[in-house]
Amino acid sequence: MIYPIVAYGDPVLRKKAESIGNDYPKLMTIIDNMFKTMYHSQGVGLAAPQVGISIRLFVIDSTPFKEDDESADGFKRVFINPELINEEGDKWKFNEGCLSIPGIREDIERKPRLTIRYQDMNFETHIEEFSGIKARIIQHEYDHLEGVLFTDKLTPLKKTLLKGRLTDITKGKVDVDYKMKFFQKR
Ligand code: CO
Repeated sequence: MIYPIVAYGDPVLRKKAESIGNDYPKLMTIIDNMFKTMYHSQGVGLAAPQVGISIRLFVIDSTPFKEDDESADGFKRVFINPELINEEGDKWKFNEGCLSIPGIREDIERKPRLTIRYQDMNFETHIEEFSGIKARIIQHEYDHLEGVLFTDKLTPLKKTLLKGRLTDITKGKVDVDYKMKFFQKR
């Protein structure tokens, strides 16, 4: 099943998501549906709060970036209960978008390397380092679990300039070719 994606303005995107155990109901179905939803909307990452489920879970497939980074090809991964342990290096700019914020893309600065602890679908714990585009996608999705959106990282001027468009998204006044759930009816 393809979930509707929760649009900017919904409080679920601002909540800190909860850790889960391996007894979480229908977890494998949720993960499967999240991948389907992500591919349907041509995203490279999707966090559970974006489908209205406030748990510490995100999925990634960085394959669309294989032209820019060979190692992105086939990098498909599920992160459960992730904890960012470290981020390092000189910040670099990358043009980010978000399935919950359709039509808006901005250059965002983040550190290039990170170490993360997470559990896989079998609830085995891993500690792994990532860099480049993979790190970037992980950072963006991890932020969703903390209630943070990429637009929070913009300068005050940029935020002011985008305010009207963000309000429009809250109300559903936006063109988007995948199913979304808007906080206010237009
Ligand atoms: Co996002």
